[in-house]
Amino acid sequence: MRTIPLIQFGFGGVGRAVVRRVMKARDEFEWRYGIQLQYVALCDSNGAAVEAQGISFGDLERAMAAKEAGRGLADTPIGYQHEGLLDIVDVAGVTGAIVIDVTASDETVPALQWALDKDYFAVLANKKPLAGSIASFRQLTDSDRLRYEATVGAGMPIIAALRQALIASNDHVRRIEGCFSGTLGFLTTGLQAGESYSALVRHAKQQGYTEPDPRDDLGGMDVARKALILARTMGWPLELSQIEVESLYPPELAAGSPADFLEAISALDEPFRARVAEAQAAGQTLRYVAALESGAAQVGLRAVPVDSPVGRLQGTDNLAAFYTDVYAPNPMVLQGRGAGVDGTAAGVLADIVSLALTDR
Ligand SMILES: NC(=O)c1ccc[n+]([C@@H]2O[C@H](COP(=O)([O-])OP(=O)(O)OC[C@H]3O[C@@H](n4cnc5c(N)ncnc54)[C@H](OP(=O)(O)O)[C@@H]3O)[C@@H](O)[C@H]2O)c1
Repeated sequence: MRTIPLIQFGFGGVGRAVVRRVMKARDEFEWRYGIQLQYVALCDSNGAAVEAQGISFGDLERAMAAKEAGRGLADTPIGYQHEGLLDIVDVAGVTGAIVIDVTASDETVPALQWALDKDYFAVLANKKPLAGSIASFRQLTDSDRLRYEATVGAGMPIIAALRQALIASNDHVRRIEGCFSGTLGFLTTGLQAGESYSALVRHAKQQGYTEPDPRDDLGGMDVARKALILARTMGWPLELSQIEVESLYPPELAAGSPADFLEAISALDEPFRARVAEAQAAGQTLRYVAALESGAAQVGLRAVPVDSPVGRLQGTDNLAAFYTDVYAPNPMVLQGRGAGVDGTAAGVLADIVSLALTDR
Protein backbone atom coordinates (compact mmCIF):
# COMPACT_ATOMS: atom_id res chain seq x y z
CA MET A 1 0.00 0.00 0.00
CA ARG A 2 1.36 3.41 -0.97
CA THR A 3 0.34 6.41 1.12
CA ILE A 4 -0.07 9.64 -0.86
CA PRO A 5 0.02 12.81 1.30
CA LEU A 6 -2.55 15.49 0.40
CA ILE A 7 -2.21 19.22 1.17
CA GLN A 8 -5.32 21.26 0.40
CA PHE A 9 -5.71 25.04 -0.01
CA GLY A 10 -9.40 25.96 0.33
CA PHE A 11 -12.14 24.45 2.46
CA GLY A 12 -15.28 25.95 0.89
CA GLY A 13 -18.03 24.19 -1.06
CA VAL A 14 -15.68 22.39 -3.45
CA GLY A 15 -12.97 21.85 -0.82
CA ARG A 16 -15.33 20.03 1.54
CA ALA A 17 -16.79 18.00 -1.35
CA VAL A 18 -13.24 16.86 -2.23
CA VAL A 19 -12.53 15.83 1.38
CA ARG A 20 -15.80 13.88 1.49
CA ARG A 21 -15.02 12.16 -1.82
CA VAL A 22 -11.53 11.21 -0.67
CA MET A 23 -12.91 9.71 2.57
CA LYS A 24 -15.67 7.80 0.75
CA ALA A 25 -13.21 6.32 -1.76
CA ARG A 26 -10.80 4.95 0.86
CA ASP A 27 -11.69 1.23 0.68
CA GLU A 28 -12.26 1.28 -3.07
CA PHE A 29 -8.89 2.89 -3.80
CA GLU A 30 -7.03 0.61 -1.40
CA TRP A 31 -8.05 -2.57 -3.20
CA ARG A 32 -8.35 -1.15 -6.70
CA TYR A 33 -5.13 0.89 -6.86
CA GLY A 34 -3.18 -0.01 -3.71
CA ILE A 35 -3.09 3.63 -2.63
CA GLN A 36 -4.18 5.44 0.48
CA LEU A 37 -4.87 9.18 0.19
CA GLN A 38 -4.04 10.92 3.44
CA TYR A 39 -4.57 14.57 4.34
CA VAL A 40 -1.52 16.05 6.06
CA ALA A 41 -2.52 19.74 5.74
CA LEU A 42 -5.66 21.70 5.06
CA CYS A 43 -6.38 25.42 5.17
CA ASP A 44 -8.92 28.14 4.53
CA SER A 45 -8.20 31.84 4.13
CA ASN A 46 -7.31 32.24 7.78
CA GLY A 47 -6.76 28.92 9.51
CA ALA A 48 -4.93 25.65 8.96
CA ALA A 49 -4.67 22.13 10.31
CA VAL A 50 -1.39 20.28 9.82
CA GLU A 51 -0.53 16.74 10.92
CA ALA A 52 2.40 15.01 9.21
CA GLN A 53 1.13 11.58 10.33
CA GLY A 54 -2.25 12.23 8.68
CA ILE A 55 -5.35 14.09 9.87
CA SER A 56 -7.83 11.47 11.09
CA PHE A 57 -11.22 11.06 9.42
CA GLY A 58 -12.85 12.00 12.72
CA ASP A 59 -10.97 15.30 12.82
CA LEU A 60 -11.82 15.95 9.15
CA GLU A 61 -15.52 15.34 9.89
CA ARG A 62 -15.43 17.69 12.87
CA ALA A 63 -13.63 20.38 10.85
CA MET A 64 -16.24 20.10 8.08
CA ALA A 65 -19.07 20.36 10.58
CA ALA A 66 -17.46 23.46 12.10
CA LYS A 67 -17.05 25.07 8.66
CA GLU A 68 -20.65 24.30 7.78
CA ALA A 69 -21.71 25.93 11.03
CA GLY A 70 -19.92 29.09 9.87
CA ARG A 71 -16.69 28.78 11.88
CA GLY A 72 -13.20 29.09 10.42
CA LEU A 73 -10.64 26.26 10.54
CA ALA A 74 -8.62 28.33 13.04
CA ASP A 75 -11.50 27.99 15.52
CA THR A 76 -11.56 24.18 15.46
CA PRO A 77 -9.64 21.99 17.96
CA ILE A 78 -7.16 20.92 15.24
CA GLY A 79 -6.77 24.40 13.73
CA TYR A 80 -4.52 27.42 14.20
CA GLN A 81 -4.21 30.80 12.50
CA HIS A 82 -1.78 30.47 9.60
CA GLU A 83 0.68 33.03 8.30
CA GLY A 84 0.56 32.16 4.62
CA LEU A 85 0.45 29.16 2.35
CA LEU A 86 4.22 28.64 2.21
CA ASP A 87 4.09 27.61 5.87
CA ILE A 88 1.36 25.06 5.21
CA VAL A 89 2.83 23.44 2.11
CA ASP A 90 6.15 22.72 3.80
CA VAL A 91 5.16 19.94 6.20
CA ALA A 92 8.18 18.46 7.97
CA GLY A 93 8.87 14.86 7.01
CA VAL A 94 6.48 14.83 4.04
CA THR A 95 7.61 14.05 0.49
CA GLY A 96 5.83 13.51 -2.83
CA ALA A 97 2.64 15.26 -1.72
CA ILE A 98 -0.22 16.30 -3.99
CA VAL A 99 -1.23 19.93 -3.40
CA ILE A 100 -4.89 20.68 -4.15
CA ASP A 101 -5.92 24.27 -4.92
CA VAL A 102 -9.66 24.73 -4.43
CA THR A 103 -9.51 28.40 -3.52
CA ALA A 104 -10.65 31.17 -5.88
CA SER A 105 -7.46 33.16 -5.32
CA ASP A 106 -4.29 33.87 -7.32
CA GLU A 107 -2.33 34.15 -4.06
CA THR A 108 -1.71 30.40 -4.23
CA VAL A 109 0.81 30.68 -7.08
CA PRO A 110 4.04 31.01 -5.01
CA ALA A 111 3.10 28.01 -2.85
CA LEU A 112 2.12 25.94 -5.91
CA GLN A 113 5.44 26.82 -7.54
CA TRP A 114 7.34 25.96 -4.37
CA ALA A 115 5.59 22.57 -4.29
CA LEU A 116 6.32 21.81 -7.95
CA ASP A 117 9.97 22.82 -7.48
CA LYS A 118 10.09 20.26 -4.62
CA ASP A 119 8.86 17.57 -7.06
CA TYR A 120 5.43 17.59 -5.47
CA PHE A 121 2.29 17.35 -7.60
CA ALA A 122 -0.63 19.77 -7.89
CA VAL A 123 -4.32 19.62 -8.80
CA LEU A 124 -6.37 22.76 -9.46
CA ALA A 125 -10.07 23.56 -9.64
CA ASN A 126 -8.99 27.20 -9.26
CA LYS A 127 -8.60 28.85 -12.68
CA LYS A 128 -6.78 31.96 -11.52
CA PRO A 129 -3.22 30.54 -11.26
CA LEU A 130 -3.50 29.39 -14.89
CA ALA A 131 -5.00 32.66 -16.13
CA GLY A 132 -2.08 34.91 -15.13
CA SER A 133 0.77 35.60 -17.54
CA ILE A 134 1.71 32.97 -20.10
CA ALA A 135 5.16 32.79 -18.45
CA SER A 136 3.53 31.85 -15.14
CA PHE A 137 1.27 29.27 -16.88
CA ARG A 138 4.33 27.65 -18.46
CA GLN A 139 6.26 27.60 -15.21
CA LEU A 140 3.38 25.86 -13.46
CA THR A 141 2.62 23.34 -16.21
CA ASP A 142 6.06 22.59 -17.71
CA SER A 143 6.86 19.77 -15.31
CA ASP A 144 3.65 17.90 -16.23
CA ARG A 145 3.09 17.36 -12.51
CA LEU A 146 0.10 19.71 -12.39
CA ARG A 147 -3.45 18.75 -13.45
CA TYR A 148 -6.42 21.08 -13.87
CA GLU A 149 -9.36 19.12 -15.30
CA ALA A 150 -11.94 20.75 -13.00
CA THR A 151 -11.10 24.28 -14.19
CA VAL A 152 -13.12 23.76 -17.39
CA GLY A 153 -16.47 21.93 -17.29
CA ALA A 154 -16.03 20.73 -13.67
CA GLY A 155 -16.00 16.90 -13.71
CA MET A 156 -16.30 16.50 -17.49
CA PRO A 157 -13.03 15.29 -19.08
CA ILE A 158 -12.63 18.25 -21.44
CA ILE A 159 -8.93 18.85 -20.73
CA ALA A 160 -8.30 15.08 -20.82
CA ALA A 161 -10.02 14.84 -24.23
CA LEU A 162 -7.87 17.67 -25.52
CA ARG A 163 -4.57 16.44 -24.05
CA GLN A 164 -4.92 12.68 -24.18
CA ALA A 165 -7.19 12.06 -27.16
CA LEU A 166 -6.43 14.92 -29.55
CA ILE A 167 -3.00 16.44 -28.84
CA ALA A 168 -1.41 13.08 -27.95
CA SER A 169 -2.66 11.54 -31.21
CA ASN A 170 -1.24 14.45 -33.23
CA ASP A 171 -4.73 15.29 -34.42
CA HIS A 172 -5.03 18.89 -35.59
CA VAL A 173 -7.59 20.86 -33.60
CA ARG A 174 -9.10 23.31 -36.10
CA ARG A 175 -11.75 24.84 -33.88
CA ILE A 176 -13.25 24.45 -30.44
CA GLU A 177 -16.72 25.75 -29.67
CA GLY A 178 -17.98 25.56 -26.14
CA CYS A 179 -20.60 26.70 -23.69
CA PHE A 180 -18.90 26.87 -20.31
CA SER A 181 -21.37 28.73 -18.13
CA GLY A 182 -24.50 27.14 -16.71
CA THR A 183 -25.83 30.58 -15.80
CA LEU A 184 -25.43 31.92 -19.32
CA GLY A 185 -26.91 28.69 -20.72
CA PHE A 186 -29.97 29.21 -18.54
CA LEU A 187 -30.16 32.81 -19.76
CA THR A 188 -29.83 32.12 -23.50
CA THR A 189 -32.25 29.18 -23.41
CA GLY A 190 -34.80 31.41 -21.66
CA LEU A 191 -34.27 34.31 -24.08
CA GLN A 192 -34.86 31.96 -26.98
CA ALA A 193 -38.11 30.76 -25.33
CA GLY A 194 -39.35 34.37 -25.27
CA GLU A 195 -38.62 35.31 -21.66
CA SER A 196 -37.18 38.73 -20.88
CA TYR A 197 -33.53 39.32 -19.99
CA SER A 198 -34.36 41.09 -16.72
CA ALA A 199 -36.78 38.39 -15.53
CA LEU A 200 -34.25 35.66 -16.34
CA VAL A 201 -31.37 37.39 -14.54
CA ARG A 202 -33.51 38.07 -11.46
CA HIS A 203 -34.77 34.48 -11.45
CA ALA A 204 -31.23 33.07 -11.84
CA LYS A 205 -30.03 35.21 -8.95
CA GLN A 206 -32.97 34.16 -6.77
CA GLN A 207 -32.32 30.48 -7.49
CA GLY A 208 -28.64 30.86 -6.61
CA TYR A 209 -27.48 30.07 -10.19
CA THR A 210 -25.43 33.26 -10.30
CA GLU A 211 -22.57 34.59 -8.21
CA PRO A 212 -23.75 36.97 -5.43
CA ASP A 213 -23.20 39.78 -7.97
CA PRO A 214 -24.73 38.50 -11.27
CA ARG A 215 -22.36 40.77 -13.21
CA ASP A 216 -19.56 38.31 -12.35
CA ASP A 217 -21.32 35.78 -14.61
CA LEU A 218 -22.78 38.20 -17.18
CA GLY A 219 -19.43 39.91 -17.80
CA GLY A 220 -18.05 36.74 -19.42
CA MET A 221 -14.63 36.79 -17.69
CA ASP A 222 -15.11 33.38 -16.10
CA VAL A 223 -15.80 31.89 -19.54
CA ALA A 224 -12.83 33.83 -20.96
CA ARG A 225 -10.52 32.25 -18.35
CA LYS A 226 -11.74 28.80 -19.40
CA ALA A 227 -11.14 29.63 -23.08
CA LEU A 228 -7.66 30.86 -22.13
CA ILE A 229 -6.87 27.60 -20.33
CA LEU A 230 -7.99 25.57 -23.37
CA ALA A 231 -5.96 27.78 -25.72
CA ARG A 232 -2.83 27.50 -23.57
CA THR A 233 -3.31 23.74 -23.25
CA MET A 234 -3.05 23.64 -27.06
CA GLY A 235 0.18 25.63 -26.84
CA TRP A 236 -1.24 28.97 -27.98
CA PRO A 237 0.69 31.75 -26.19
CA LEU A 238 -2.40 33.88 -25.45
CA GLU A 239 -2.86 36.39 -22.65
CA LEU A 240 -6.29 37.00 -21.09
CA SER A 241 -6.26 40.56 -22.48
CA GLN A 242 -6.05 39.17 -26.03
CA ILE A 243 -9.36 37.34 -25.74
CA GLU A 244 -12.32 39.25 -27.14
CA VAL A 245 -14.99 39.15 -24.44
CA GLU A 246 -18.56 40.34 -24.91
CA SER A 247 -20.19 41.41 -21.68
CA LEU A 248 -23.96 40.92 -21.44
CA TYR A 249 -24.42 44.28 -19.72
CA PRO A 250 -23.21 47.73 -20.81
CA PRO A 251 -20.31 49.58 -19.09
CA GLU A 252 -22.68 52.16 -17.57
CA LEU A 253 -24.21 49.39 -15.40
CA ALA A 254 -20.82 48.33 -14.01
CA ALA A 255 -20.97 50.72 -11.05
CA GLY A 256 -23.49 50.44 -8.23
CA SER A 257 -24.64 47.62 -6.01
CA PRO A 258 -26.08 44.31 -7.27
CA ALA A 259 -29.52 45.60 -6.18
CA ASP A 260 -29.07 48.77 -8.30
CA PHE A 261 -28.04 46.58 -11.21
CA LEU A 262 -31.11 44.33 -10.93
CA GLU A 263 -33.26 47.43 -10.77
CA ALA A 264 -31.77 48.94 -13.94
CA ILE A 265 -31.71 45.95 -16.27
CA SER A 266 -35.28 46.17 -17.57
CA ALA A 267 -33.83 48.66 -20.07
CA LEU A 268 -31.92 45.75 -21.63
CA ASP A 269 -35.01 43.64 -22.35
CA GLU A 270 -35.78 45.21 -25.71
CA PRO A 271 -32.25 45.07 -27.21
CA PHE A 272 -31.99 41.37 -26.25
CA ARG A 273 -35.46 40.64 -27.66
CA ALA A 274 -34.35 42.24 -30.95
CA ARG A 275 -31.20 40.08 -31.09
CA VAL A 276 -33.23 36.93 -30.48
CA ALA A 277 -35.69 37.90 -33.22
CA GLU A 278 -32.86 38.61 -35.66
CA ALA A 279 -31.29 35.20 -34.99
CA GLN A 280 -34.65 33.44 -35.27
CA ALA A 281 -35.40 35.16 -38.61
CA ALA A 282 -32.14 33.66 -39.92
CA GLY A 283 -33.10 30.19 -38.62
CA GLN A 284 -30.52 30.46 -35.84
CA THR A 285 -30.42 30.56 -32.08
CA LEU A 286 -28.38 32.63 -29.60
CA ARG A 287 -25.83 30.97 -27.33
CA TYR A 288 -23.01 32.35 -25.20
CA VAL A 289 -20.09 30.68 -26.94
CA ALA A 290 -16.35 30.41 -26.40
CA ALA A 291 -14.82 30.00 -29.86
CA LEU A 292 -11.15 29.11 -30.42
CA GLU A 293 -9.69 29.03 -33.91
CA SER A 294 -6.39 29.87 -35.65
CA GLY A 295 -4.63 30.93 -32.46
CA ALA A 296 -7.34 33.37 -31.36
CA ALA A 297 -10.26 33.15 -28.95
CA GLN A 298 -13.55 35.00 -28.65
CA VAL A 299 -16.21 34.77 -26.00
CA GLY A 300 -19.67 36.19 -26.52
CA LEU A 301 -23.25 35.91 -27.68
CA ARG A 302 -23.40 34.24 -31.07
CA ALA A 303 -26.18 33.25 -33.45
CA VAL A 304 -25.53 29.57 -34.21
CA PRO A 305 -27.38 27.01 -36.36
CA VAL A 306 -30.27 25.46 -34.42
CA ASP A 307 -29.10 21.97 -35.35
CA SER A 308 -25.44 22.46 -34.34
CA PRO A 309 -24.16 20.88 -31.10
CA VAL A 310 -24.06 24.29 -29.40
CA GLY A 311 -27.47 25.24 -30.85
CA ARG A 312 -29.09 22.06 -29.52
CA LEU A 313 -27.80 22.63 -26.00
CA GLN A 314 -30.51 23.48 -23.46
CA GLY A 315 -30.48 24.86 -19.94
CA THR A 316 -27.47 24.86 -17.64
CA ASP A 317 -25.46 22.02 -19.24
CA ASN A 318 -21.96 22.73 -20.51
CA LEU A 319 -20.63 21.54 -23.85
CA ALA A 320 -17.33 21.37 -25.72
CA ALA A 321 -17.24 20.56 -29.44
CA PHE A 322 -13.82 19.75 -30.94
CA TYR A 323 -13.57 20.15 -34.74
CA THR A 324 -10.38 18.39 -35.81
CA ASP A 325 -8.86 16.57 -38.81
CA VAL A 326 -10.05 13.25 -37.40
CA TYR A 327 -13.37 14.52 -36.06
CA ALA A 328 -14.68 16.04 -39.29
CA PRO A 329 -17.14 17.07 -40.49
CA ASN A 330 -18.86 16.14 -37.20
CA PRO A 331 -17.03 17.24 -34.06
CA MET A 332 -16.18 15.23 -30.97
CA VAL A 333 -18.69 16.51 -28.40
CA LEU A 334 -18.69 16.35 -24.62
CA GLN A 335 -21.82 17.53 -22.88
CA GLY A 336 -23.08 17.43 -19.31
CA ARG A 337 -23.23 19.14 -15.99
CA GLY A 338 -20.39 21.66 -15.93
CA ALA A 339 -20.69 23.07 -12.42
CA GLY A 340 -21.66 22.14 -8.88
CA VAL A 341 -19.46 21.09 -6.00
CA ASP A 342 -19.87 17.32 -6.50
CA GLY A 343 -18.97 17.32 -10.19
CA THR A 344 -16.04 19.63 -9.53
CA ALA A 345 -14.81 17.45 -6.67
CA ALA A 346 -15.09 14.40 -8.97
CA GLY A 347 -12.83 16.14 -11.51
CA VAL A 348 -10.33 16.98 -8.76
CA LEU A 349 -10.28 13.41 -7.40
CA ALA A 350 -9.78 11.90 -10.87
CA ASP A 351 -6.74 14.17 -11.31
CA ILE A 352 -5.40 13.18 -7.87
CA VAL A 353 -5.65 9.50 -8.77
CA SER A 354 -4.06 9.98 -12.17
CA LEU A 355 -1.07 11.69 -10.50
CA ALA A 356 -0.94 9.11 -7.71
CA LEU A 357 -0.70 6.34 -10.29
CA THR A 358 2.10 7.93 -12.35
CA ASP A 359 5.59 6.55 -11.82
CA ARG A 360 7.30 8.27 -8.95
N1 LIG B 1 -18.55 25.67 -7.31
C1 LIG B 1 -18.45 25.19 -8.55
O1 LIG B 1 -19.40 24.70 -9.15
C2 LIG B 1 -17.11 25.22 -9.25
C3 LIG B 1 -16.94 24.61 -10.50
C4 LIG B 1 -15.67 24.59 -11.11
C5 LIG B 1 -14.62 25.25 -10.49
N2 LIG B 1 -14.83 25.88 -9.29
C6 LIG B 1 -13.71 26.57 -8.70
O2 LIG B 1 -13.35 25.93 -7.48
C7 LIG B 1 -12.82 26.89 -6.58
C8 LIG B 1 -13.54 26.80 -5.24
O3 LIG B 1 -14.91 27.07 -5.42
P1 LIG B 1 -15.93 27.07 -4.18
O4 LIG B 1 -17.27 27.11 -4.76
O5 LIG B 1 -15.55 25.98 -3.24
O6 LIG B 1 -15.55 28.49 -3.50
P2 LIG B 1 -15.75 28.90 -1.97
O7 LIG B 1 -16.87 28.14 -1.35
O8 LIG B 1 -15.74 30.39 -1.96
O9 LIG B 1 -14.40 28.37 -1.26
C9 LIG B 1 -13.15 28.97 -1.42
C10 LIG B 1 -12.25 28.50 -0.29
O10 LIG B 1 -10.95 29.04 -0.50
C11 LIG B 1 -10.50 29.66 0.70
N3 LIG B 1 -9.54 30.72 0.36
C12 LIG B 1 -9.78 31.87 -0.30
N4 LIG B 1 -8.62 32.58 -0.44
C13 LIG B 1 -7.66 31.84 0.17
C14 LIG B 1 -6.28 32.01 0.37
N5 LIG B 1 -5.64 33.10 -0.07
N6 LIG B 1 -5.60 31.05 1.03
C15 LIG B 1 -6.23 29.93 1.48
N7 LIG B 1 -7.54 29.71 1.32
C16 LIG B 1 -8.25 30.65 0.67
C17 LIG B 1 -11.76 30.18 1.36
O11 LIG B 1 -11.50 30.41 2.73
P3 LIG B 1 -12.65 30.86 3.75
O12 LIG B 1 -13.48 29.62 3.96
O13 LIG B 1 -11.89 31.27 4.95
O14 LIG B 1 -13.40 31.97 3.08
C18 LIG B 1 -12.69 29.00 1.09
O15 LIG B 1 -12.50 27.99 2.06
C19 LIG B 1 -12.97 28.27 -7.27
O16 LIG B 1 -11.75 28.61 -7.87
C20 LIG B 1 -14.04 28.02 -8.32
O17 LIG B 1 -13.92 28.86 -9.45
C21 LIG B 1 -16.04 25.86 -8.66
